[in-house]
Amino acid sequence: MMKKRLAILGSTGSIGSQTLQIANRIENIEIVAISCGHNLSLFSKQLSEFHPPFAASLKKSDSLTDSFPETLFFHGEEGIERMLEKSRPDYVLLAVSGAAGLRFSLKAIEVCHRLCLANKESIVCGGDLLLKECARKGVELIPVDSEHSGLFQLLDGSRRPKRIIITASGGALRDWPLERIQNATIRDVLRHPVWSMGNRITVDSASMVNKGLEVIEAKYLFGFETNEIDTYICRNSFIHAGILYSDGVLKLHTGIPDMRIPIAYSLTYPERIQTIPEQSIVDVPMILEELPKERFPALTLAREICGVVSKQIAYNAADEVAVEAFMNGRMPFGGIYNIIEKTVERTADQNPVDYSQIIETDSVARKLAQEEVDRCY
Ligand SMILES: NC(=O)c1ccc[n+]([C@@H]2O[C@H](COP(=O)([O-])OP(=O)(O)OC[C@H]3O[C@@H](n4cnc5c(N)ncnc54)[C@H](OP(=O)(O)O)[C@@H]3O)[C@@H](O)[C@H]2O)c1
Repeated sequence: MMKKRLAILGSTGSIGSQTLQIANRIENIEIVAISCGHNLSLFSKQLSEFHPPFAASLKKSDSLTDSFPETLFFHGEEGIERMLEKSRPDYVLLAVSGAAGLRFSLKAIEVCHRLCLANKESIVCGGDLLLKECARKGVELIPVDSEHSGLFQLLDGSRRPKRIIITASGGALRDWPLERIQNATIRDVLRHPVWSMGNRITVDSASMVNKGLEVIEAKYLFGFETNEIDTYICRNSFIHAGILYSDGVLKLHTGIPDMRIPIAYSLTYPERIQTIPEQSIVDVPMILEELPKERFPALTLAREICGVVSKQIAYNAADEVAVEAFMNGRMPFGGIYNIIEKTVERTADQNPVDYSQIIETDSVARKLAQEEVDRCY
């Protein structure tokens, strides 16, 4: 059987580095291209271990080019796009973080047959455009987010349910008294109870912005309105997703919370492979808890703006700016929601449809968010 050629964008991140390890063990996959942002020391280790023929980084590095003469290097965001063109991948796994991922998703659709999408921001900012282009080019879009991978598997070949469910662990602050949350430190927020992930998504788990982005992602990927998408807390993250039929039957997608499973599924679909040792499911509590709205205003806001594309873009852009300001010690954790709320409020209702309009909306929202950070903190 011909091997599938795989490009991994964001290989130095949490999802990207797990993908490298898994893909390397799948017999019919060949890693042909990898890209990183700025972490050149990890990138250099990955190049030594996996020897992809094509590689790209945001910054140019002569020492990397000299050390790996058999790899063809590209630089900058345009370079990552050119790498995709030249390496002709069958599959692209997109694990870049942030709205920056959208341009790579759109490029990937031009060159590959399957887009394995971890970058939820691509859907939040350009869901309609991305899905339209996938349909036009006949590209399979397989979500990597564990909840959406769960929904994808539950809905595959099923009749349309009445409602769909995604779960949240509740993040690092889920049991904190409300009045203390505002001033949680970076260390507190990064101490996630279940998952080990990149910094931004870990902060977003504590603020519930991540679940807000995921509700929007689910709307576009599966065609459900916000009031048909339920969110619950599942403390051990064993339940990822569910679908509820009108006769009361509830099908749940459950399993060990380990991102290697949905990553592998996106690469092997419709086949399955074993990625982690089998574990007992006896005595594992599988409990859904109500998600207290007053603790997580960012999720309520995401539900309110879902479907208004300019506000979705502003919600994400403001969060990116605010999380950076929090991580730099510039403002308290409680400031994140404040910045998002103000930025979304100042963004007019619009429906940017093409890439340049989306990017323009994103850039205006970032400026507004930065203005709010400068004014308030
Ligand atoms: N982590 C998880 O368990 C998880 C679960 C579900 C979904 N996701 C989603 O998957 C995506 C990646 O998350 P992550 O946690 O793996 O993030 P991460 O650890 O921060 O990694 C992000 C990767 O993207 C690269 N990157 C960042 N900005 C870039 C840019 N402008 N151009 C090119 N490359 C860029 C980074 O490069 P450098 O580090 O070299 O600078 C790194 O390789 C996010 O959209 C997240 O929401 C993650």
